[in-house]
Amino acid sequence: MKKVIAMIIASAMTISLVACGGSSAPASTNDAAETENVEDEAAPAQDEAAPAEDAQADAEAPAEEAAPAGPVANNEKPVIWFNRQPSNSTTGELDMDALTFNDKTYYVGFDAKQGAELQGQMIADYLTSHGAELDRNGDGIIGYVLCIGDIGHNDSIARTRGARKALGTAVPDAAQGKTEIATIDDVDPSPVGTNTDGSSDKVQDGSITIDGKDFVVRELASQEMKNNAGATWDAPTAGNTIGTWSASFGDQIDVVVSNNDGMGMAVFNAWSKEQGVPTFGYDANSDAVAAIEDGYCGTITQNADVQAYLTLRTLRNALDGVDIMTGIATPDAAGNTLNDDLYYYDEATRCFYALNGAVTADNYQNFLDATAPNPLFNNQLSEDDAPVKRVWLDIFNSTDNFLNATYLPQLENYDKILNLDVEYIKGDGQTEANITDRLANPDEYEGFAINMVKTDNAASYTSKLQ
Ligand code: BGC
Ligand code: CA
Repeated sequence: MKKVIAMIIASAMTISLVACGGSSAPASTNDAAETENVEDEAAPAQDEAAPAEDAQADAEAPAEEAAPAGPVANNEKPVIWFNRQPSNSTTGELDMDALTFNDKTYYVGFDAKQGAELQGQMIADYLTSHGAELDRNGDGIIGYVLCIGDIGHNDSIARTRGARKALGTAVPDAAQGKTEIATIDDVDPSPVGTNTDGSSDKVQDGSITIDGKDFVVRELASQEMKNNAGATWDAPTAGNTIGTWSASFGDQIDVVVSNNDGMGMAVFNAWSKEQGVPTFGYDANSDAVAAIEDGYCGTITQNADVQAYLTLRTLRNALDGVDIMTGIATPDAAGNTLNDDLYYYDEATRCFYALNGAVTADNYQNFLDATAPNPLFNNQLSEDDAPVKRVWLDIFNSTDNFLNATYLPQLENYDKILNLDVEYIKGDGQTEANITDRLANPDEYEGFAINMVKTDNAASYTSKLQ
C-alpha cells in the first residue's frame, strides 16, 4: 500500500514539476501513453475472438493433432532487450535491426530524457532554495563536479546533458552539428576533465541568484568513471577520483552531481558526507534513499519495479502468443495491470519506457525499500494459463549497484508470479564474450532477456540465435 501511495506521489510530483518547468517532453510522453491506450481498446476485440476459435478447434481436433508443434527455431523465440537500448553509442541512433529481430522482440527501459530533466531540475531547485552558505570558500562561484557513467550509454549521456542544461553550464553539441540549445538533446555531453579556471569549451559558466546575490556556476571537473579493466559506471573509480579532485581543489567543490547512485554514494561515503557537501545521484537504490537521512541530497527513481515487470511480462506474453499489452495496459486474468502514468510504449520502435520520479528529503520515506514488489502487478498467474517456461537473462555487470541491488531483486519478485524459470547470468561489465559464451546452447531456453555491455553489440547476441 505504501508503495502505491509512493507511486502516486512520484507521478504527481513529475506532473507538478513539469507544470512549473514548462517542458514539453513529458506532455508528449502522456500523449504517447494515451494513443497507445486508444489502440489497445481496439485491439482486444480481435484477440478475444481468436482464443474462442482455437478452443473450438482444439475440442474438435483428434488427440494426435493437438500434440505440440515441433521445436521453435531460436530466431523465432522472444528477445527482450533491457536497460541498454540497442543503439549507436556515438550518435544514439536506435539499432532497428536489433529492435525488430523478430516479431517477438521488444526493448524495456525508462524515459531517459524525462528523468534527466527531472534530475537537473531537482539540483537547480536545491541550489536556488539554499542560502549563500553553499559557496564554501566564498569565491562567488558554486563549483560542482560530475561523475559520468559511460560516455556511450544513452542514459548517462542524457543525465549529463540534463544537469548541465538546468545549471546553465551547457553548450551546444558541436559534434552533432548543434549551434543552439532548444532541448537537452542539443547539449554537448563530453567530459571536461578539469575546468577549475572555467576555460573548457565543453561547458560554459552559468549563473544563479541565491538570496538576492548572483553566483557563477562552474563545472570544475567531470570524467567517465571507468576502471582499468574497462568497466563503466564504476563506483570504486568514483570514490578514488573524488580523492584526487578534493586533494587539488577540494574547497572549491560545493556540489557533487552523479549519473547514478552507485558512483554518487561512493563519493558521498568517501568524502562529501563528512564535508557536508550536497550530493545528487540517480536510481533510488535503497542505500542511497536511506542516506538522505544522513545528508545525501536526492536521487531519481526510474521505477525498477515497473521495468522488471515489463521485462518479464513482455517475455511471458510473447511466449504465450497473447496480446503484448496483457497485464500491462489491459488487466490479465489475475488482475495485474500497469497504470498509464507509470510507463508508455512506442509502437514504431517497439520500446517500453517507465517514467521517473524525484526522491528528496520531502518524500524519501516512501522509497526506502527499492526491492519491494508493486501490489498493482504482483498477482500469481495460474499455471494452467501460463505454464512454466525456461528463459535466459543476463545482467551485464555483477558489480553494478542498480542492476544487482535493485533491478535483480525486482526481477526475482516477478519471475515467480509469471511462472518463469529464469537462468540468471552475470557478466564482468567489460567483455561481451564473457556473457555470450554462456549462451552456448540457446536450444535449452524458450526466450531471452538481454542486458548488453555496450549498446552497439546486439548482433553478438542475435548471431547466437541464427
Ligand atoms: C542505471 C545505472 C546503471 C546502468 C547500467 C542505468 O540505467 O541508472 O545505475 O549503472 O543503467 O547499464
Ligand atoms: Ca565556491
